[in-house]
Amino acid sequence: MHRILIVDNEASILSVLSTLLKAEGYDVRSVRDADKAKELLRSEEIHLMISDIRMEPVDGMTLLKWSRSECPDLSVIMLTAHGSVETAIEAMKLGAFDYVTKPYKIDELLITIQRALQYKEALAENKHLRARLNTQYRFENIVAESPSMKQVCTMIERIAPTDSTIMIYGESGTGKELVAKAIHAYSNRKHQKFLAVNCAALPEPLLESEMFGHTKGSFTGASSNKKGLFESADGGTIFLDEVGSMSLGIQSKLLRVLQEKEIRRVGGNDNIPVNVRVLAATNVRLEDMIQAGTFREDLYYRLTVIPINIEPLRNRKEDILPLINHIIQHEVGNTVPMPEIAPQVSQILRRYSWPGNVRELENAIKHALTFAHNNRITVDVLPASIVNAVEDLQIQNDETNPESQFQSLKDFMRIKEKEYLDEVLAITGGDKERAARSLKISLATLYRKISTEDDIPNDDAIEPVENIEI
Ligand SMILES: Nc1ncnc2c1ncn2[C@@H]1O[C@H](COP(=O)(O)OP(=O)(O)OP(=O)(O)O)[C@@H](O)[C@H]1O
Ligand SMILES: [Mg+2]
Repeated sequence: MHRILIVDNEASILSVLSTLLKAEGYDVRSVRDADKAKELLRSEEIHLMISDIRMEPVDGMTLLKWSRSECPDLSVIMLTAHGSVETAIEAMKLGAFDYVTKPYKIDELLITIQRALQYKEALAENKHLRARLNTQYRFENIVAESPSMKQVCTMIERIAPTDSTIMIYGESGTGKELVAKAIHAYSNRKHQKFLAVNCAALPEPLLESEMFGHTKGSFTGASSNKKGLFESADGGTIFLDEVGSMSLGIQSKLLRVLQEKEIRRVGGNDNIPVNVRVLAATNVRLEDMIQAGTFREDLYYRLTVIPINIEPLRNRKEDILPLINHIIQHEVGNTVPMPEIAPQVSQILRRYSWPGNVRELENAIKHALTFAHNNRITVDVLPASIVNAVEDLQIQNDETNPESQFQSLKDFMRIKEKEYLDEVLAITGGDKERAARSLKISLATLYRKISTEDDIPNDDAIEPVENIEI
């Protein structure tokens, strides 16, 4: 239960406000001056403080300053006199969450309290995630909160020290190269080279020369002897990305290298021994290519001694928020305070389907950081395409979801409650005090429950809370 401290010189305000907040389910403490507030803040855990600005002998601004340094996690809402906007802004600058101008409206105050507490929870959640990020992950660069990514990490630990060839499967941007680098970094070859080649990026003759090297004059433009990646990476690891793009010709040469552990440069006659571990990656199903006759089955078995499958990001939503924190931390470093993420932003980013996986998420966060203001990531700084896609999805769900014809239980209860209150009020002839007593609720609660349709009256039993002037 959230505990709220109210600080005000006026006893009547304290009593009305605490009745109201208790009826809302808060645990309330109230004190009449700043010194008593300090005492209480030192001895109890308080989540939110509502303090008047104009107080004797110590004013609210001094109490606010004190609380920022002594209880930095405390949220503070200030009550300011009508027309003193400058003081209110000064309070915000000093770190108050918000201010409410007197005479205040109950609803406005309640909403501000809710916002302050929700904000505090979101902050705590971020902190918690960050703390976990710092302690839990075995590989400092790999975020792995989902069971499937945890399994990938376990695999990496297990297979890194072996010399097996590994095939990493995963859609574009899922982290295949990151995993390959981790395997190398945790292997006995870690002090030797890790060289990567994207087999889709080069036309066949160039790829062959890139991988195996060439001799002088072996083709037009080959003006000198050149080592290929296999020779350069000797003792280390080579990463063949998008291995499905290799021509059948290069596939058979690669198969020979894997079997014989030696290469022959393009145009050369010598067999050169190489000691290289091969890691490969693909985002297409090689089994289908084998069926179609475009990938050699024998090479497939040579390369896929151990397969690692990285799930698309949409199937491991638990990774999304930790990844966001990881990316932000990487972008902003440790020097400035981490930007805060509005709760709605987290929701959108979790719902989106991420066809470009982690790379797309990285780009979205970089985009948001570029346009963020006040160190806060809000919906308006996300790429519009993402926000629109999530909105469309929501509309589709609403249209196709047969449950949407039902009212929520909360709405139903509210309507039924209102009907019952009207009935009791009709029986008591509109006497709200009697009605409240019969219903065994406080008068303040009754007013709040009927306040949408009924004005708060100038009843002598209770001061009209909305119009209290302090
Ligand atoms: N689990 C993860 N934790 C932290 N960063 C990640 C993770 N997965 C991916 N990344 C980051 O996402 C980006 C894309 O990863 P990577 O290049 O390894 O993906 P890929 O599968 O090789 O992509 P492509 O198919 O486009 O080549 C990189 O910046 C990488 O650091
Ligand atoms: Mg890659």
